[in-house]
Amino acid sequence: MADVVLGIETSCDETSAAVLVGERRRPELAGLVILSQDVHRVFGGVVPELASRAHLAALPAVVDRALAEAGIGWSAVDAVAVTQGPGLVGALLVGVVYAKALAYAGDRELIGVHHMEGHLFAPLVEDPDLAPPFVALLVSGGHTLLLDVPAWGRYRLLGATRDDAAGEAFDKVATLLGLGYPGGPAIERLAPQGDPTRFSFPRPMRDEGYEFSFSGLKTAVLRAVRSSDDLERDRPHLARAFQDAVLDVLITKLERAIRATGHRTAVLGGGVACSRALAGLAARRLSDGGLARVAVASPRLNADNAAMIARAGWYRLGLGERSDWTLDARADLPLPGLEPAPTTLGAAHP
Ligand code: KG4
Ligand code: ZN
Repeated sequence: MADVVLGIETSCDETSAAVLVGERRRPELAGLVILSQDVHRVFGGVVPELASRAHLAALPAVVDRALAEAGIGWSAVDAVAVTQGPGLVGALLVGVVYAKALAYAGDRELIGVHHMEGHLFAPLVEDPDLAPPFVALLVSGGHTLLLDVPAWGRYRLLGATRDDAAGEAFDKVATLLGLGYPGGPAIERLAPQGDPTRFSFPRPMRDEGYEFSFSGLKTAVLRAVRSSDDLERDRPHLARAFQDAVLDVLITKLERAIRATGHRTAVLGGGVACSRALAGLAARRLSDGGLARVAVASPRLNADNAAMIARAGWYRLGLGERSDWTLDARADLPLPGLEPAPTTLGAAHP
């Protein structure tokens, strides 16, 4: 088993490299560099072609810097773990080609990692005792997944979104409110100034099952914005009501899954899990009453980063898995280890 794994993440608009060093089961984070691409702000969203170019320009320096932070040279690296998908295919390709070239030239091991499995492994970087069984809520800009995780590497899909991902809803509503990109942090900053009773938005599908739908909520915000006679005055109230509705739906379904499975741990992951409001609500609804422990990584490890990719790769390398030189970027890579959810849990089967 490798003792030093270099992680590389370029699936969207963060160029990131990380170094994990250590014993078989307890690697430590020795270096992590995350370079957020600022260029997209002026466009109000990620421009794929610009993202690829920015990764290409930055990745060699980001990898060098992560190795320097770890105090090691390239020769000490045993394996390279890289995000294979899902994500923007051009952006992914930069990371995959770079990782392949590094591993091939140095005759090192290579492992392709699923981006959402990376998010799932993020809390393990800081909390090595985190262990299944648990329920995981993974909420990012592209995905909303509720998973029953009986063991690492085995994932039962309880529910996903039928339309927009949770993070996407934050970004779109932020645009409607005239806030910048990315929208989640901007809404979270504004929401505490809002009166939660001024607007009331629907909580789509909250009271049934495990699936999510956020596009109707977005339309409800759009209508409220259009009928407001003073958006300046209403903006914080709208942000507050929207955030309350999304978080309530997310945590209600997480709580339902915890009760149905009987698991005592809930894991939050993905960019939306940077939200202190989300973690706070999960704590109030799950841990305060003794229902489940809530595990959530620090914001730096919930946003897109290579430490989580290195950690998921470390796990897969430990199983003896390797990628070969045909490894290719895949925008729609399926989550590995997906198995049907037991019908007793009442999960929908697509
Ligand atoms: O995982 P991530 O960094 O990238 C993807 O894999 O998509 O997630 C990005 C998403 C964005 O939609 C962003 O608005 C959202 O995470 N996000 C937040 C917060 N911070 C980031 N959403 C709500 N509250 C936050 N504090
Ligand atoms: Zn992500």
